[in-house]
This record gives sequence, structure tokens and C-alpha cells, in this order.
Amino acid sequence: MAVPAQFIDELMARCDIADVVADYVPLTRKGGSLWGCCPFHSERTPSFHVVPERQMYKCFGCGKGGGVINFIMEIENLSYPDAVRFLAKRAGLQVPEERGDGGFRKKRERLLSLNKEAARYFHSVLHSPAGQAGVEYLFGKRKLSKATVTRFGLGMAPEGWDKLITAMAAKGYEKGELLEAGLVVRSKEGRVYDRFRNRVMFPIIDLRGDVIGFGGRVLDDSTPKYLNSPDTPVFNKGRNLFALNIAKRTRLGRIILTEGYMDTLSLHQAGFDCAVASLGTALTPDHAQLLSRYTKEVVIAYDGDGAGVSAAQRAIGLLEKTGMKVRVLRMKGAKDPDEFIGKYGPEAFAKLLDQSENHIEYRIDQVKGKYDLTDDAQRVEFLKEAVPILAQLPSPAEREIYGARCAEMAGVTAEVVAQEVKRERSRLSWKAKKQQERRDLTPAVQLQPKERALRYDNLRSARAEEGVLRLVILDPELFGSTAALDPEHFSAPLLGKVFRLLRERWTNGLTVSLAALAGELEPTEMSHLSGVLTQPESLQNGARAMRDYIEIIETEAEKRRLAGESDELLAMQKKLLEKKAYGG
Ligand code: GTP
Ligand code: MN
Repeated sequence: MAVPAQFIDELMARCDIADVVADYVPLTRKGGSLWGCCPFHSERTPSFHVVPERQMYKCFGCGKGGGVINFIMEIENLSYPDAVRFLAKRAGLQVPEERGDGGFRKKRERLLSLNKEAARYFHSVLHSPAGQAGVEYLFGKRKLSKATVTRFGLGMAPEGWDKLITAMAAKGYEKGELLEAGLVVRSKEGRVYDRFRNRVMFPIIDLRGDVIGFGGRVLDDSTPKYLNSPDTPVFNKGRNLFALNIAKRTRLGRIILTEGYMDTLSLHQAGFDCAVASLGTALTPDHAQLLSRYTKEVVIAYDGDGAGVSAAQRAIGLLEKTGMKVRVLRMKGAKDPDEFIGKYGPEAFAKLLDQSENHIEYRIDQVKGKYDLTDDAQRVEFLKEAVPILAQLPSPAEREIYGARCAEMAGVTAEVVAQEVKRERSRLSWKAKKQQERRDLTPAVQLQPKERALRYDNLRSARAEEGVLRLVILDPELFGSTAALDPEHFSAPLLGKVFRLLRERWTNGLTVSLAALAGELEPTEMSHLSGVLTQPESLQNGARAMRDYIEIIETEAEKRRLAGESDELLAMQKKLLEKKAYGG
């Protein structure tokens, strides 16, 4: 997004990181910085650190870090340009409109309006003869009401290879754009044709009401049963949930998570306006984070088959991590919520919802189901598997209650189970302590970036490069003594790039802050750098320290250059020798 750098500067001057973070996380002051419990992973002791002086945050638990824009990107689940707009709104600023056709935002808007036109087209097909089969399917076979079909903007992609292409061409959209929106496919021979043909269509709408993609279902038993838009510049399956745009306003106090479009539609039609579906993918940590912004309780209503059960097990873990209450709904006599409501009606489903088990009962029951508890050996196995589940329960009351229940199932006393759980807990905390110690004792590893791709090749030089960055952030005037330092001489490309970008900012009279580079660095890069730049660095003898750092960087660069040269020399010699051998 081509927002002028001056605007970003102004924006950051008005959005103090401490204020912005405090909207989401209670912070307490300790020394020069602020601490709180990290909103990006679950924890009970604060390891989330905000340094107002450097306008950065860093979590020592999960490693996430950056400036105010990164924080908003992460917590509001927004792209960089959207985070800028979000903060601008908060600060009462108007984002200057970018000019030029190459702008990212322009393109995004163009794709979104194309998607909207496509959704309109698919919907309109239902009112035409070509949509007869879709009408029969949605209303007749799936028993959807007119209101539901309208509310969700359902439609039909007609038979044929270029129906959508033609309809969109009439609206001024080119094939290239349709390709980018994932609405058409290019064959190996280069032929471009409609991706969705002869399917009923479910538009996927994001939280702001934009159509970002589609799901399409066949009308018969052919395969694939469902087809989704691929990931595009405006659509990411792992970050969006079907119907969350509606469910986010529910008054029912919880969100029902289903596996399918049809389950979600049936639930809404039956009055459960809190249903959402993941889009044909397993639930991701991003999904869990997203849900936790809108609700405190999730009820998992996946299919009752083996795949559904193991998907539920995985989802429980992810959802729990964000601190939400998780319940699991178990259906009898139907394979999924859609079928259940069709067979037994909404009241029966409401009952099921009230009986939905909390996830501990569910998990223990799953384990119990695997063993024959009339057999001594299997009872032992059952306990072996149940104890780790119990040990992970945070509250002593829960451990006691569910421990007693497991004891009863296994036919042993509650004390025995309690003891096993206690032992497991001390084993876990010992393991955690050891891990921490290992991290503390191996500085070389700790100093390396977590991301493999960012690993330093030359630690000595990288240390000095990090030092240079810390110094100029603390005192930009120190850039004055770096005129001869070439960013290309940095051993770590990322650190060199940041040095170059910051020096450009300084030259152009802009603020020298890492937070301002949110648009130019990946979140993982930001996280690493925020760790680097919140480490202590003394300014007492800044000029001197700068000279030392530069000297190390240049010496190491020279070594690399010589090594490269000697490689070249060797190669040359070899060539000469070969020539002699042949020519001589
Ligand atoms: P109906 O048969 O229409 O009732 O669908 P369902 O929701 O009962 O279907 P199912 O349990 O088979 O699938 C659940 C979800 O998984 C669907 O809503 C899709 O999002 C996804 N899915 C199912 N089949 C396919 C497939 O063939 N391809 C892809 N990409 N996703 C699928
Ligand atoms: Mn179904």
C-alpha cells in the first residue's frame, strides 16, 4: 500500500503503543516498562512486555513482537493496510488515498467488487431457467427457506464453461482478474474456464461484509462434493470462518462450530444464529484466536464419525489455548447437525446443546471408549491415558472431581488417582523447568532467531549488527558516523535491510523506529527484531560502541570477501591447469 511514509509517522506519533495495547491487555508498570499476560498465547504469569520508550512489544513466552501496527495486525487479524486504516480511525486521521493503478488496495477493492458481482450473478441465476436445478436442490432437497437463501446470498453456477466469464466480461472484468479471484481455472493448454459449474454456491463473507470467496456443492453424488475458492489476495481459508459475519452479533452467548456449510445454514434457519463453519479445512490457531474475540464459549458440533471425533479432539486443544470454554455436542441418530435438525427439529437440538459436555468429560469418555473396563490390564491402560488429561487441568477442584470419576470407572480409590495425577504434574513441571534451564544455558542457540530461515551465519558479526541497530534506535544521530558502512557488508541480510531502511528514514527526516517498518517486514522478522531491539544497550559511550561494532562488521565482511576471492583464485588455477593439460 502506497501510504506516504509521513502519514505512517504521524499515525505512530498519535498511537502510543502503551495506550493501544492497554485497550486489549491490562498492563502493570515495572521499572521503565509495562508487563501483562500475552494475548497471543495462554499464560498465567505475565511475559508480555511493552517498552514505551522504543514503542515496541515483545512476548518472551511465544516470541511475538513488533510495533503498534504489528500488534493490531495480530490481534485484530488484519492485513497491514487494514491495520493502518484501523489505527487511523482510532486516531481520527484520514488515510490519504493512494494514487496509481498498481496500489495494493485498489487491487483488493477490484477483486472484492468482482466477487460481489459474481455472487450477484450466481444468485440471479436462481431466478432464471438455468437455475431450475439449483432451486429444486436448495428449496426442495435441502429444505432451505427463501429467507435463508436470501440472507446468505446463495446462488447457482450454471452448466457450461464460460457462463461466469461472459457475465463478468459484460461488467468490465477481464480473465486475468477472474483468475486472480480464483473464479476461473487455466488448463495446461492455456484455456481459461469457469471454476464453478453446475453447483449451488455459498458466498463466503468476511467480517466487514465483503464477499471474499465461494464454496460450491454438486447437486448429485459426483465428486468433488464441495469445491472452495483457492487462497487469493483477499481470501485465506485458515483465517476466515463461514457465517461469522452474522454469528458475531448473536445474543446466544456462544458460538457453535460446525464442519459444513449446510450444517451452519440449517442451524441459522432453526434459530441458532451463532453457528459458523470452518471452510473445509481443519481448525487453525488463527480461527481459534478469531473466535475468542467474539465469544467466551464454543460448542463443537462436528460430525459423529471417526474423522469428526479426531478433528474435535484437535480443535479442543486449539480453542482452549485462547482461554475459551469449550463444549462438545454429541448427536445420536444423525451424522451431523443438519441431519439432526431435519429429523428431530430445533427443540431437540436446543436440548442437545444444553446437555453438551464440557471437553473434559468428552475427552475422558473418548478414552474410556477405547478400553474394556472389566479387564484388569485394560483398566490400567485406561488410567495411564486418563492421568495426563487430568494432570493438565488447571484447577484443583476440577482435578479432584474428574479424578474421582475416573477412579470410579477404573474401580480404584480416588486417592490412587490423585497420587498418580500429582506425580504426573510434578513430572510436567520438572520437564518445563529443565527446558527453561536448557534455554538459559545455551546462549548461542538463544541468540539465534527462532525462525530457521533467519538463522545467522556469522554470530560474531550478527551481534555487532544487532548492536548497531539498537544504538541508532536509541540515538538516531549516531547514523552520522555510519556513512561508510555498507548494508551489503552485514552478514545477516535481514539486519542489513533494516539498517538500510532505517538510515533512509533518517536521511528523509522521518522517525527512526522499527514499528514504522511494519509494511516492509514479515511478522516473523518483526518478532525477531523486536526481541533484538528490546535488549539492553547502553548509550553512555554510544559513539565508541558504534565504532567497535562497525569494525567487527567490516572485519568479518573482509574475511568473507577474501574467502570468496580465494575460491575464485582456486577456480582460476584449476582452469589454467586444465588448459595446460589439454594444450600442452
Ligand atoms: P452435505 O452432504 O451437503 O450435507 O454436506 P456435509 O456438510 O454434510 O458434508 P461433509 O460432512 O462431507 O463435509 C463437511 C465440509 O467439508 C463441507 O461443508 C466442505 O466444506 C468440506 N468438504 C466436504 N467434501 C469436500 C470436498 O470434496 N472437497 C473440499 N474441498 N471440501 C469438502
Ligand atoms: Mn450433511
